[in-house]
Amino acid sequence: MNQQAGGKILLRMENISKSFPGVKALDKVSLQVKAGTVHALMGENGAGKSTLMKCLFGIYNKDEGHIYLEDREVDFKSSREALDNGVAMVHQELNQALKRSVMDNIWLGRYPKISKFIPLVSEKKMYADTMKVFQELDIHVNPKAIMSTMPVSHRQMVEIAKAVSFNAKVIVFDEPTSSLTEQEVEHLFRIINMLRDRGCGIIYISHKMEEILRISDEVTIMRDGQWVATEPAKELTMNQIIRLMVGRELTNRFPPKAHDVVDEIVLKVEGLTAMYSSLRDVSFALKKGEVLGIAGLDGSGRTELLENIFGSATRKHGKIYKGSKLIHNRSPQESIANGLSMVTEERRATGIFSILDVRSNTVISCLKKCRSDRFFFLSNRKMQEKTQWSVNRMRIKTPSLATKIRSLSGGNQQKVIIGRWLLTEPEIFLMDEPTRGIDVGAKYEIYQIIIDMAKEGKSVIMVSSEMPELLGVCDRILVMSNGRLAGEVTATATTQEEIMTLAAKYV
Ligand SMILES: Nc1ncnc2c1ncn2[C@@H]1O[C@H](COP(=O)(O)OP(=O)(O)OP(=O)(O)O)[C@@H](O)[C@H]1O
Ligand SMILES: [Mg+2]
Repeated sequence: MNQQAGGKILLRMENISKSFPGVKALDKVSLQVKAGTVHALMGENGAGKSTLMKCLFGIYNKDEGHIYLEDREVDFKSSREALDNGVAMVHQELNQALKRSVMDNIWLGRYPKISKFIPLVSEKKMYADTMKVFQELDIHVNPKAIMSTMPVSHRQMVEIAKAVSFNAKVIVFDEPTSSLTEQEVEHLFRIINMLRDRGCGIIYISHKMEEILRISDEVTIMRDGQWVATEPAKELTMNQIIRLMVGRELTNRFPPKAHDVVDEIVLKVEGLTAMYSSLRDVSFALKKGEVLGIAGLDGSGRTELLENIFGSATRKHGKIYKGSKLIHNRSPQESIANGLSMVTEERRATGIFSILDVRSNTVISCLKKCRSDRFFFLSNRKMQEKTQWSVNRMRIKTPSLATKIRSLSGGNQQKVIIGRWLLTEPEIFLMDEPTRGIDVGAKYEIYQIIIDMAKEGKSVIMVSSEMPELLGVCDRILVMSNGRLAGEVTATATTQEEIMTLAAKYV
């Protein structure tokens, strides 16, 4: 908590309303942010958090309401205008020029010139300016690196550096930690504390309850586009927040494990070594009806392991058996035919057809099952039914099945993708961070789906950075360290400490 908490009001948003076709995304929402504080914004997927912030940041035009920055009424028409006026936003969905360098991304549209008389871009100055911001924030990223070659966490740091480089007074972080490791979260929190001490007003959106209670001074909760409550963080408990968000009590975070692991091996991996990543010599077996967790630090090869099994990355050595049969999984298509499915980690980049509607995005992986019984054509009715099933099962909040997926909230887009893969009815489901960016209520649904699948005799391999989730849902957990398998633990008989120790084994 900061001594300055309770400073002057930096930002005032009053009675903001915003509608989209078929949805009232915001209904007279108000928010006040004080200088030198962190204000958390919470609510379920689709509650209107990102929309409220996009109205502030000039991405959306509000229909109604007023916004004041230190008593001056503002109404930004573009994000550039917002940035020039000291309001910055680190987006939930990073929108970066991936083919360009780090410094290009930071200074895009305001490149430093060689001099007033020579209107050419000064690469040298741009490099020096970038390094200055990076040093201030203790960021270790090469300013000349190309964005696409960097992990999401580094790209996020670049985004934060960009916000700081504009000398912003109000900085919005929309789910900044969803792809960060624990150490990176600590780093981000140091940066946020520094900005708070400088007198900035920070708006922090996250679904991670522990984080909110730790970093924020005040919490505003929204539900269905409406303001529900604003309270000092120290007066709120996790259960109270959940009740305000969901509108009902949610007593358990994990459903009871009701499945039995059968002593029959469904998938065996031997000496798996990747061609282009550090993954090497991984062997393990997966049983029928088993939920197998994969733990490890970021970059330890967890995602690469799934990708190498699924054929979306190239293997160098190694064998994969389904039961006793050798399979090759040279491509995702081949893996799907072999009864595997995979939910990727970076769903927006690798999983979404943003200009297509919810229905097309849902049925795209099970088109064969959508054929008309009599004709060769696709049956509209079947596609509609399958999509409706997934929307119900995943509780996807969407005005209709024909809504473009890009207009869904971040969390709801993710749910569409998970629903898509559920429809393929895989025998073996590979899930990379399945609950990232998903609200508490929907997380429970996803755990329930995983446990139900295991109960039906399907098997699940689940990568997660959230230790409680691995312990709460999995039967067995493999721990990766620096591309290798560092050990294996039983979920009911291990501790977070044991897993952390294994994760550091080869570092
Ligand atoms: N461009 C758009 N077009 C149509 N509807 C939209 C658009 N942007 C948002 N919406 C709708 O507005 C509502 C609020 O979405 P918003 O993205 O603000 O939710 P959120 O609280 O940020 O959720 P999440 O936690 O999933 O990110 C949702 O129902 C969403 O479908
Ligand atoms: Mg959002």
